[in-house]
Amino acid sequence: MNTNESIKILVIEDDSTMCDGMVTVLRKEGYRVNVARDGAAGSRLFRKERPDLVLTDLKLPEKSGMQLLNEFKATDPDLPVILISAFGTIDLAVNALKSGAYDFIPKPFSVDELKNKVALALKMKLMTVVDDRTEDSFYGLIGTSAMMQKVFEKISQVAKVDSPVLITGESGTGKELVARAIHAESSRRRRHFLAVNCGALTDTLLESELFGHEKGAFTGAIRQHAGIFEQADGGTILLDEIGEISVAMQVKLLRVIQRQVFQRVGGANEVTTDVRVIAATNKDLKTAIKDKTFREDLFFRLNVLPLRLPPLRERSGDIKDLIDHIVHKKCAELGREVPAFDDHALEMLENYPWPGNIRELENFLERLLIFSKDARIEPTAICLDEPDETFSTVSGKLTDVLEETEILMIKRALQETGGIKQRAARLLGIKTSTLYYKMDKYDIAAGESGSES
Ligand SMILES: Nc1ncnc2c1ncn2[C@@H]1O[C@H](COP(=O)(O)OP(=O)(O)OP(=O)(O)O)[C@@H](O)[C@H]1O
Ligand SMILES: [Mg+2]
Repeated sequence: MNTNESIKILVIEDDSTMCDGMVTVLRKEGYRVNVARDGAAGSRLFRKERPDLVLTDLKLPEKSGMQLLNEFKATDPDLPVILISAFGTIDLAVNALKSGAYDFIPKPFSVDELKNKVALALKMKLMTVVDDRTEDSFYGLIGTSAMMQKVFEKISQVAKVDSPVLITGESGTGKELVARAIHAESSRRRRHFLAVNCGALTDTLLESELFGHEKGAFTGAIRQHAGIFEQADGGTILLDEIGEISVAMQVKLLRVIQRQVFQRVGGANEVTTDVRVIAATNKDLKTAIKDKTFREDLFFRLNVLPLRLPPLRERSGDIKDLIDHIVHKKCAELGREVPAFDDHALEMLENYPWPGNIRELENFLERLLIFSKDARIEPTAICLDEPDETFSTVSGKLTDVLEETEILMIKRALQETGGIKQRAARLLGIKTSTLYYKMDKYDIAAGESGSES
C-alpha cells in the first residue's frame, strides 16, 4: 500500500485554477485530498474529515486563512497548516507563522516546492510523535519504579495489536496519558486519536458523538455529522469513563466493537470503520456487573487486554521525579525560577498518600508555586491536610466555598505582586479585565493584604 493513501489533506482555496493545480499534484502523490472553496466550507470539512495537514489561502471569502488557522489550532495543536500567500500578504503570512502556522508558500510556486513543503510538514508531524519517547519519559509518562516500567512494557506490547484495551485505575493515575501512549506507539500513530468522555453526555448526545447522525435525524441536526468512530477511521478512540454508560448504549457499543460496522443516527446505511478501541474507568466493573449496571459480554469484549495503573501511593519512589518534571513545566509556564526543595519537605511529599494521585500532585505543586516565591521550598510551606479537611464533609453551599477560595486567592495574588493587577491576573491565570470585575464584585482593594494566610 502506498503510505500516502492514509494521509488526508484539506485544500482551501477560492481561485479555481490554483486549486485544481494543487489538487492534481497532491493526488498524484497519493494523498487523499478534500477541497473547500471558501472559509466556512473549510471549517466544515475540517470538522468532518479531521485532515492530517491543511493548505489554505490567506484571503478567502467568508472566513480568512488566519481565522481558520486559529480555529484549527485550537482543536488540533499538532496539525500542520501551510498558508498560501499572494503578493502583498507576506506580512500577514509572517504573523501567521507566529500564530502557529507550520509554513507559508508565496504565490506563484512550483510543483516541487509544494510537494517538498507538504512532505516535510508531514514528516515533522510524525517526528513529534515518535520523539516523545526519551530516556526520562515515555510519551510524557514519568516513572522509574518497577511498577511503571512494567506499565511501559505493557504499553509497547499492546501497541503491537489491535484488540481492545481496558485501562483501570483510580482518578488521576494517568489513564488518558496511557491511552495516548498506546496510540503513539502503535502503527496507527499517523491517524487520529480521539477521546470521548462517556460520563459527561446524555445517551442521545453520546450516540451522535460516537456514531454521528444524518441530516434531519433530530431537531437541530441540520447537516450530516460524522461521529468519532468514523472520524478516527484507521486510528484509535478512547471511551473514557466507560463505567458510566447506560445499558442501552452498552448494547450499541458491543455491536460496533464486535462487527466494526454501525449506522449513523437516523441513517439506514451501514458504515464500516477500522478503529482501535481503548476504554478507561476508575470504577470496579466486576461489581457493576454484579449490580447489573454493566453488561458482562461488553466487559469481556473490552477487557481483552487489561491494563491496571497503580495509585501513586504504591509507587512513592516516583514522586521525586514527578515533582521535578511538574515543577519545571509549571515554572516555565509561570515565568518563575525553579525552586530547590528542602529534603524534609520532599520527604513530607513522598509520605503523603495522594488520594487524587498525579492530578492532585500537579494541583498541589501549582498552588505552591503560585503562592510561594521562595527559591527554596521549606517544610513550613507545605500544608497537605488542609484540602482534605476542608472537603471531608459537605458543609455550606458549594458556591460559597468557591467564592471564599476565589477571594482568598485574589487577595494573595495581589499581595504577592505588590498590588500590580496585570501581574496578579497572570499569576491567577485570568484576564486582567476578569480580575477587575472580580475585585469590584467582592469589593477587594489592590492594596489589601491577604492577612488570612
Ligand atoms: N506517569 C505520569 N507522568 C507524568 N504526568 C502524569 C503521569 N500520569 C498522569 N500524569 C498527569 O496527571 C494528570 C492526570 O492524568 P490523566 O488525566 O491521564 O489521569 P486519569 O487517570 O485519566 O484521571 P481521571 O480518572 O481523573 O480522568 C494529567 O495532567 C497527566 O498529564
Ligand atoms: Mg481521565
